[in-house]
Amino acid sequence: MGNFVDVKELNKQNKYIQNVKLLVEGRGLKAFVYTLGCQQNEADSEKIMGTLQKMGYIITENEEEADILMVNTCAIRDHAEKRALSIVGRFKHYKAKNPDIIIGVCGCMSAQEHQREKLKHSYHYVDFTFGTGALHRLPEFVYNALNKKKRYFDIDSDTPAIAEGVDPLRASSYRAWVSIMYGCNNFCTYCIVPYVRGRERSRKMEDILSEIKDLVNKGYKDITLLGQNVNSYGKDLEEKTNIAALLNEISKIEGEFWIHLMTSHPKDASDEMIEAIKSSPRTSGHFHLPLQSGSDEILKKMNRHYDLEKYLSIIEKLRKDNEKITLTTDIIVGFPNESEEDFQKTLEVIKRVKYDSIFSFIYSPRKGTPAASMDNQIPESEKHRRYDILCDVQNDISREINESYIGTVQKVLVDGKSKNNEGVYTSRTQGNKIVHFECENDYTGTFKNVKITRADTFALYGEII
Ligand code: SAH
Ligand code: SF4
Ligand code: F3S
Repeated sequence: MGNFVDVKELNKQNKYIQNVKLLVEGRGLKAFVYTLGCQQNEADSEKIMGTLQKMGYIITENEEEADILMVNTCAIRDHAEKRALSIVGRFKHYKAKNPDIIIGVCGCMSAQEHQREKLKHSYHYVDFTFGTGALHRLPEFVYNALNKKKRYFDIDSDTPAIAEGVDPLRASSYRAWVSIMYGCNNFCTYCIVPYVRGRERSRKMEDILSEIKDLVNKGYKDITLLGQNVNSYGKDLEEKTNIAALLNEISKIEGEFWIHLMTSHPKDASDEMIEAIKSSPRTSGHFHLPLQSGSDEILKKMNRHYDLEKYLSIIEKLRKDNEKITLTTDIIVGFPNESEEDFQKTLEVIKRVKYDSIFSFIYSPRKGTPAASMDNQIPESEKHRRYDILCDVQNDISREINESYIGTVQKVLVDGKSKNNEGVYTSRTQGNKIVHFECENDYTGTFKNVKITRADTFALYGEII
């Protein structure tokens, strides 16, 4: 099938892996990967590190000692791109000291032509760049760089094929990402993702299920199914299926684990999917449903294909007989033409739905997207003013909801010692709420019950029982 990288190509890459290994192994060479962006990029970086390790590199968290440095970039907002370029800029000094160092840039930013050109012409020490669809070809790129071949700047196709069998080096031994699909077909007018990650491609259900079974056998307790719009999972497969069917199959797997979805698009949230979410205790704890704006006018201009009424009906269905579910969302403020009235409508929805928390973003024009050339762009100062108001409104709601947890007992998955607080452990509920507690024993990676004694806007605090 054209959707999947064929065995011949995978074998070719495996040969490159062996060839790089011959050059690298036994020399104590180290690799450093810097990751920007969303969970998809985190998952991709785990595959990059898995491949680098397979080739004989030792993964390091210290960039100064690395022999190969990679930046996995994000293009979602201007800030992310600036950060990527400043990190690539920082790497110049290492190459100046040691010309044998290899520098690669990958991810969503390097899939854009203007950024690729910039990296080619203004960052002469970058050896190669490639987009998210060519990740399985990393061995070839590294091999060529080691052999001082010409600098290489790969161009992703519109529909890059899915490569199975590129094993990740997972950062955690109990929380895992599992990509169920790649790319996006939605072309929301503000968003760069469809341009840099290509069209929707679903993994085969059997591949996803076997990965999840393997994770559960290894003791993983929290699995996030990744896709830009997981609600349209399966539509592109030869053997048509859907997200509800996938969730129902996952619920047959034995073991104690939680499942999250990241992310769902409201336009494709079917009743069947909502029922599948609610019917399993593994999935019914949390749902993230991006709203973007509370104004129908703006939603239309964003090309979101739902209105507020439809959105609120999904929230209502999710909550019916399932009141404990935590809800989160994404909001963009300052989209072109957003009037004060439109913004007030967003605030009203925030107050009405009462999300547990929200991810709010200041609109950032992305080159080549329709919204970037719309009239009536909102001044920066006004965007910031709206952003601050939105955060204030949500902070009060988050605190109020968190305080309602005081006195309750919450099951949490322990994440380890808190960074700044001696003797304090940090953990998360199934609904993704952060819970801190004092404890003498290290229960990292296991489920525990915590009695909540205190709460603020961003976390719950309690005692382990
Ligand atoms: N596929 C996911 C979103 C991925 S991007 C979905 O559709 O829900 C994550 C969030 O970044 C989006 O939900 C949106 O709120 C925000 N975002 C995307 N493009 C943006 C832009 N140009 N400026 C500001 N925020 C943006
Ligand atoms: Fe971007 Fe919209 Fe696709 Fe999400 S659904 S990735 S916001 S285009
Ligand atoms: Fe960024 Fe690409 Fe994710 S643009 S948000 S890393 S899909």
